[in-house]
Amino acid sequence: MRTPFVGGNWKMNTDRASGVALARAVAEAAAACTGVEVAVFPPFPYLGAIADALHGSRITLGAQDLYYETSGAFTGEVSAAMLLDCGASAVLTGHSERRHVIGESDDLVNRKTRAALDADLTCVLCIGETLDQRERGETHAVNERQLRAALAGVRPERTQRLVIAYEPVWAIGTGRNATPADAQDAHARVRAVLASIFSSDVAASVRIIYGGSLKPDNAEALLARPDVDGGLVGGASLSATDFCTIVRAAEARVARPIA
Ligand code: PGA
Repeated sequence: MRTPFVGGNWKMNTDRASGVALARAVAEAAAACTGVEVAVFPPFPYLGAIADALHGSRITLGAQDLYYETSGAFTGEVSAAMLLDCGASAVLTGHSERRHVIGESDDLVNRKTRAALDADLTCVLCIGETLDQRERGETHAVNERQLRAALAGVRPERTQRLVIAYEPVWAIGTGRNATPADAQDAHARVRAVLASIFSSDVAASVRIIYGGSLKPDNAEALLARPDVDGGLVGGASLSATDFCTIVRAAEARVARPIA
């Protein structure tokens, strides 16, 4: 069984007070959704305060980024151990805003992904094609290249804490989302690539979640697809009500047998 995973990527939003209030509201609203792993990814400076706010709840605390070195002269960077020390147990890698706005390379995403998994953090590795790439028919090739690059050198036993987020870049923050059929097709191919990199057992157990303008009104259709194991939510995660509607849509498909 794959337990659905729904993450709220707050990006560079909230302040300390509104972040704490949002975390508390999510914890309360999602308390009954025991069949879904729910995570929030606040900005770095608020991790400690939000860890306190989530104490005793079933919400996973995650960070939006990490650096792959363990310590030393890396001004501005944050290690896996620091995240764990702040109460985080999950992290995003390869988010398209880090790839395309900040300029992270496949090699850097690979180092970060390996550092996260080696530290036993749940690693939500994001992949996805740009609009140009989609229009050239390169969606699956881009996903496969990003996956193979990011997962190079990852040992199969480390995949227990791996989650893949398929996030078409043209759908992020734009109000345009992949159709449920397109998402299913992309996810099924991602699963086939995981089988080829690792094994069919690993491929069957890794959760592959969708991100890109996931909202209360499109979540049910997207999350009903057999290879769509949850979502990574940006804009809609800033409202506890909207976010938890998406969590409930993920819960509606709990206990689905492995495809
Ligand atoms: P969005 O962001 O839901 O606002 O499109 C998704 C993401 O970037 O993870």
